[in-house]
Amino acid sequence: MSSKRVLVTGGLGFIGSHTVVALQQEGFEVVIIDNLSNSSLDVLGGITQITGNTPEFENIDLRDKTAVKDFFEKYEDIEDVIHFAASKAVGESVLNPLLYYENNISTLVYILHELNKKPSAKFIFSSSCTVYGQADELPITENAPVKKAESPYGNTKQIGEEIINDTCKINVDFKAIALRYFNPIGAHPTAEIGELPIGTPQNLIPYITQTAIGKREELSVFGNDYPTNDGTAIRDYIHVMDLAEAHVTALSRLINGKEKNNYEVFNLGTGKGNSVLEVIRSFEKVSEQNLPYKIVDRREGDITAAYADTTKANEELGWKANRSLDDALQSAWKWQKVVEKREEEEN
Ligand code: UD1
Repeated sequence: MSSKRVLVTGGLGFIGSHTVVALQQEGFEVVIIDNLSNSSLDVLGGITQITGNTPEFENIDLRDKTAVKDFFEKYEDIEDVIHFAASKAVGESVLNPLLYYENNISTLVYILHELNKKPSAKFIFSSSCTVYGQADELPITENAPVKKAESPYGNTKQIGEEIINDTCKINVDFKAIALRYFNPIGAHPTAEIGELPIGTPQNLIPYITQTAIGKREELSVFGNDYPTNDGTAIRDYIHVMDLAEAHVTALSRLINGKEKNNYEVFNLGTGKGNSVLEVIRSFEKVSEQNLPYKIVDRREGDITAAYADTTKANEELGWKANRSLDDALQSAWKWQKVVEKREEEEN
C-alpha cells in the first residue's frame, strides 16, 4: 500500500488503463497524463466504473517540454512514474520515423530530465520483445542479444532502454525497470475497458474480433509456410490484466527497495507460444462461432516465433501470468460486443 501519487503516462491507452485499474485496486493514487491522440476520455468513465474511483487526469502533450516541467512543478510529490505514452504502429513508424523519434524518445528524455532532479525517482518503462528480433534460442531470456531493430518503432524501444540505463548509471538514486512485453491481448473482465484500435487493426486479436462481429470480411493469416507445427507463426499472447498487475509488482519492488540493480529488465509473457491457427481455434471455441479466414503471404518484417522465458520474472519479481489464452480471447470478445453495442447506440 502506498498513499503517494503515481504518474501513469498514456493512462487512457490499452495497457495504461488496465494498469491504472490494477494500481488503484492496490491502493495507489493515480494521476494520468494522456493527450488523447490514440485514446478517449470515455476510458476515464470505464476506470471509474470498475474501481469506484476517478483518477486525476491532465491532458498534456509530452512533446511540450515546458508542459512536462510545469506538470512536475504542480505535482511536486510525484516521483514514481509508469510511462506508457508512445506510438506503437510498426508500419506507420517506417513511413514517419521522425514522428516516432519525437513521440517515443523526446518525451522520454523530457520526463527523465525532470525525474532526475528528484531524490528517489522510480520509473517503469514499456519496452517490447521486439528488441530481440528473431531470437536464436527459444524461449527467450533477458540475456538474449538485442538485435538490430527492423523498424523505427522497434528502434525507439532499444534507444529508450539505453537512455534509461545511461541515466541510472550516473544517478544511483534513480531506479528503473524496463518491461519487455510479449503480445498483450484481452480486456478487463467487466468489459468496461479494452483495446480501441483506430481504423483497420494491425494486430491479430482485434482483427479477429472485428471479423467475428462482422466489421471485417475475413482474417488474413500471414503465411503458413513458417517452420512451425502448423506452418503459422508463433507468439506469446499475454492477458492485459496479467501485464497490468506486473507493473504494480515492478513498481512495488522499487518502492520497497527490493531491486538488485537500479536498472533492471524483465520479460513479461506467459512462457507459452501459440500459432495463429491455434489462436483462431481457441477464439472459435470461446465465441462459439466460425471465424472466416484465408491464408495469404507472410507479412514483411514478421518473425517465425517468439515466446518468453519467464524464469526471471517468476523468481525475482515474484510475478507470473495466471490467465489463459481462452480467458484472454473470451474477454476480448466480450469487449468487442460492448464496443459494437455502443457504436450502434451512437448511430
Ligand atoms: C506487432 C509488432 C511488434 C509490436 C507488437 C505490439 C509487427 C511486425 N510487429 O507484433 O513490433 O511490438 O505488434 O503489439 O507489426 N497476424 C495475421 N493476420 C493479421 C494480423 C496478424 O496472421 O491480420 C499474425 C502475424 O503474422 C503474427 C501474429 O498474427 O504472426 C501476431 O501479430 P500481431 O498481433 O500484429 O503482433 P506481432 O507481429 O507479434
